[in-house]
Amino acid sequence: MAAAAPACTLVIFGARGDLAKRLLVPALYNLKAAGRLAEDFHILGVDHGQCDDAHFRGDLGDFLHDLAADKDSEFGQAKIDDRAWKGLAKAMRYQIGDFEDAATYAQIGRTLGDERSAIFYLAAAPRFFGPIVEQLGRAGMTKETGAVFRRVVIEKPFGDDLKSAKALNRRILKVLDEGQIFRIDHFLGKETVRNIMAVRFANGVFEPLWNRQHVDWVEITAAETVGVEKRGGYYDHAGALRDMTPNHLFQVLAMIAMEPPNSFAAEAVRAEKGRVIEAIAIKTPEEALRDSVRGQYTAGTVERRKMVAYRAADKVDPASNTETYVALKLNIDNWRWAGTPFYLRTGKALKARQTQTVIRFKRAPHTLFQALKPDQRPGANALVIRIQPNEGLSLLFDVKKPGPEELDLAEVGMDFRYADTFGAQTATGYETLLYDCMIGDQTLFKRGEDIEFAWAAVMPFLEAWKNAGEPCFYKAGSEGPDEAARLMTRSGRAWRPLPS
Ligand code: BG6
Repeated sequence: MAAAAPACTLVIFGARGDLAKRLLVPALYNLKAAGRLAEDFHILGVDHGQCDDAHFRGDLGDFLHDLAADKDSEFGQAKIDDRAWKGLAKAMRYQIGDFEDAATYAQIGRTLGDERSAIFYLAAAPRFFGPIVEQLGRAGMTKETGAVFRRVVIEKPFGDDLKSAKALNRRILKVLDEGQIFRIDHFLGKETVRNIMAVRFANGVFEPLWNRQHVDWVEITAAETVGVEKRGGYYDHAGALRDMTPNHLFQVLAMIAMEPPNSFAAEAVRAEKGRVIEAIAIKTPEEALRDSVRGQYTAGTVERRKMVAYRAADKVDPASNTETYVALKLNIDNWRWAGTPFYLRTGKALKARQTQTVIRFKRAPHTLFQALKPDQRPGANALVIRIQPNEGLSLLFDVKKPGPEELDLAEVGMDFRYADTFGAQTATGYETLLYDCMIGDQTLFKRGEDIEFAWAAVMPFLEAWKNAGEPCFYKAGSEGPDEAARLMTRSGRAWRPLPS
């Protein structure tokens, strides 16, 4: 087991919000139970709402127990260890505070003093990111001396286009050094996403094939069954592209497409990831329209539950053209990937929840199976990396079906499932990220410029869609719009079907 992290105080801005409750505190509990928090670790929750220490702890504790009781939650613990929870709860304090009022920061400063290391976690609405960092700076709380560290974790969305992301980077870099900024992307906390690097670089078998000579195309899918739920206010402004693509999907793309770093040192890994995001070809307006599909769900049934149309969802404009589904064809302009398209798709209210990457290899150069009907001829081999659920990897290839017929082929898979080999996961994904921030390891956090490269690559789509009218509609509970299938079939390719 890794050592306990150094002592510090985690100051959570937005401590009464959903993120703190659903993800941060459960992850902190898991770290506590695993002995990875310092004895002298504290949490200071800051938020607008009226509350006191006892209620703050009580509400979070109740929710944690509910999570443990819910066998479908990603929390992973079936029961709460009382000692671990009490130990964590004792370390929690609450402070009422307006994020834009200097008095809030003076009070936080008094609680911290000058000798304590602190992590300021911005789990607040994005409009507060800049103001909070500036207030922390003005209050002298971002100065690091000796072993005392002061770090800031910034949640997504980091800007809502290239211009605003650049402005936010400039604003926070006036106050903080890059080494103090931890721009978080929770996909990078997922074991299966981190495993992509291990699979690629620990095994001699994959790397020689991992390039344009052998890979026909790469598919990255993040399909969700949930609709927009209670997030209409945010989502109707953001849409699927902003919500998932320049952040989560591009991080997966970077893991798949990056060059091997010289070492696993944070800067070496981040530099390679940044380089490949920078190499995503910037589309012309015509290419952006041709190589993208915007979809929006209409009413339907998802996993036996009725779902209202997106336009009928709470806090959504009834005439909204916001996309709840996006499919893109991207190219990476570098030596390794020139000519190998990367197809990305993500959507809400789809038939099944499945986040996965498919590396589709080129077919055998010459088919000896001419006698077979076209649909029985050898398929393209594929490596399927299932990020969630059913985490694991499958290598798909053809074998001869047993039987008297001489040549009858069937696709089979060599399958690795995390759960079978390592047992059930007990992590939300935030554990690693929080721990890494405490020990000052930035490997899994994004650099400012990488966020800008990512926005630069998606801007042509956002621009092109501005006057493109209605999106393509798809029924809730389906595979997504037919146009997305056509994005692939027009070049003789196909998405891997979502599981039934
Ligand atoms: C969030 C998006 O960042 O990621 C959500 O805002 C999305 O819309 C979520 O549902 C997906 O994350 P996960 O871990 O559930 O795949």
